[in-house]
Amino acid sequence: MEVRIMENAFEISKEVSSILINKVKENPHAVLGFATGASPVETYKRMIEAFEKGEVSFKNVTTFNLDEYCGLTHEDENSYYWFMKENLFGKVDIDYEKVNFLSGDEAKSEKSCREYSEKISQAGGIDIQLLGIGTNGHIGFNEPADSFSDGPFKVRLTSSTISSNSKYFVNKKMPEYALTMGIGDIMRARRIVLIATGEGKADAVFKMIKGEVSPSCPASVLQNHNDVIVYLDKESAKLL
Ligand code: PGA
Repeated sequence: MEVRIMENAFEISKEVSSILINKVKENPHAVLGFATGASPVETYKRMIEAFEKGEVSFKNVTTFNLDEYCGLTHEDENSYYWFMKENLFGKVDIDYEKVNFLSGDEAKSEKSCREYSEKISQAGGIDIQLLGIGTNGHIGFNEPADSFSDGPFKVRLTSSTISSNSKYFVNKKMPEYALTMGIGDIMRARRIVLIATGEGKADAVFKMIKGEVSPSCPASVLQNHNDVIVYLDKESAKLL
């Protein structure tokens, strides 16, 4: 695991966006795994800027997002699909035919979980998976558990995740369930780039990097992957 401690979120976003953009320049048909939440937002801004300057096109890129809330359709402003439209997809030349999401729509969610790993493998596997980390050590919505998951599944969110994310739900109660790519799906990505900023992440970051590999801190499994770069600011790195 390579750990890079940067001055701030802006410096992190410059490096992480370069990694993603360089991959797309090298292979315009790259397969990228995207994350939602606050951590990747600055990186997405740098990607939009590069697109606007004509430095990169995303039109042939295939994307897989990590997770989605149960009960929220693509049209719901609180859905992660909507988040990706607002923060990246709607501002670059992404081909929505190549955008893949677990379906929060109850009628489709089981099927989407069943098919997602197969879709990833049909696309050739994920070249770079972007991740954040929860204050409880989750990646995607793989919450602390007794064992590591493999493929996508429906998860009951922990009170820690609900308390971190409910601030985004203004007119609505946050769903208690979500669909997430499994740990196996994440670990099969050829390269993983994780971003963590702020003091609130320091404990989870410490356990991920220095703790034992255990499903009680799902991110610790990344110690077993051979190509992971972790980008931290000074606050999230303070216990290392
Ligand atoms: P955040 O969430 O980027 O909003 O801090 C990260 C996560 O929960 O994985």
